[in-house]
Amino acid sequence: MNAMTSFSFGLKKVQEICTKHNVAMVQAGPYHKCPKCAVEYHEQQLAQAQAEVDHMVRQKHFDGAMLPERHAHSGFKNYLVNNAGQQNALNHIVSYAKGMLNGEKNNLLMVGPTGTGKTHLSCAMAKTLLKKGKHARYITSEDLAQRIMNAWEQPDATEKSVIYAFTQYDLLILDEYGLHDRDKRREMVHKVLYARYDRMKPTMLISNLTLEELQKDLGDRLWSRFQQGGLTIVECNWADQRLGGGV
Ligand SMILES: Nc1ncnc2c1ncn2[C@@H]1O[C@H](COP(=O)(O)OP(=O)(O)OP(=O)(O)O)[C@@H](O)[C@H]1O
Ligand SMILES: [Mg+2]
Ligand SMILES: [Zn+2]
Repeated sequence: MNAMTSFSFGLKKVQEICTKHNVAMVQAGPYHKCPKCAVEYHEQQLAQAQAEVDHMVRQKHFDGAMLPERHAHSGFKNYLVNNAGQQNALNHIVSYAKGMLNGEKNNLLMVGPTGTGKTHLSCAMAKTLLKKGKHARYITSEDLAQRIMNAWEQPDATEKSVIYAFTQYDLLILDEYGLHDRDKRREMVHKVLYARYDRMKPTMLISNLTLEELQKDLGDRLWSRFQQGGLTIVECNWADQRLGGGV
């Protein structure tokens, strides 16, 4: 029995015709109602409820993404392109985001000196993905290590549970890698990278280190894993934009 027959089942048809659907209306209590209009209304209500749930989930993901306040307005639209390198970086990031939306799961590496717009572009990408319902999460390497180490002293969290939580995101943006994470801290961050690799979850790693330094810092095993499935590398080598740097 479909929705329309279920609505009109047992109800008496009346003379009146629905001008929209050109079908006989039925007697529903004191009213004359079109069974097709009733089904449409019901479907609209369902769609609206679904849209509200989707909106709530997206809002929750936006809040949970923890994008830095400084980059609240950093987007693709206000990323200025003044040189070929910036154009190349923008192209790579946009196409990486598109790939992710198509289910690709490769990693991304963005390196370059300070003030070259790495965090800006990563936040622009995160916003794009969040709008499309993907669960992106931003964190600095130092904060990530600290979060895991905090778990050592908390009764309700373990190192494992925090690492596991960071494997859940569709994309992890790990910023400022290599800045503060030496020894134990670096080990904690590497554990998250291994765990995400095992769960086939993409990571975007951002660093001031050079590619060679980064490769050395990650070590052969992690470097090899990080490249699996095709690694996108974006090098930002231009003047510091914080200082209003030119071309
Ligand atoms: N191409 C650009 N167009 C517009 N604004 C930019 C551009 N590049 C950088 N900016 C702005 O310059 C400032 C510094 O950029 P951002 O914080 O992204 O640099 P970064 O590469 O992450 O630096 P660091 O390595 O020190 O973290 C930000 O306010 C950012 O919005
Ligand atoms: Mg930055
Ligand atoms: Zn109707």
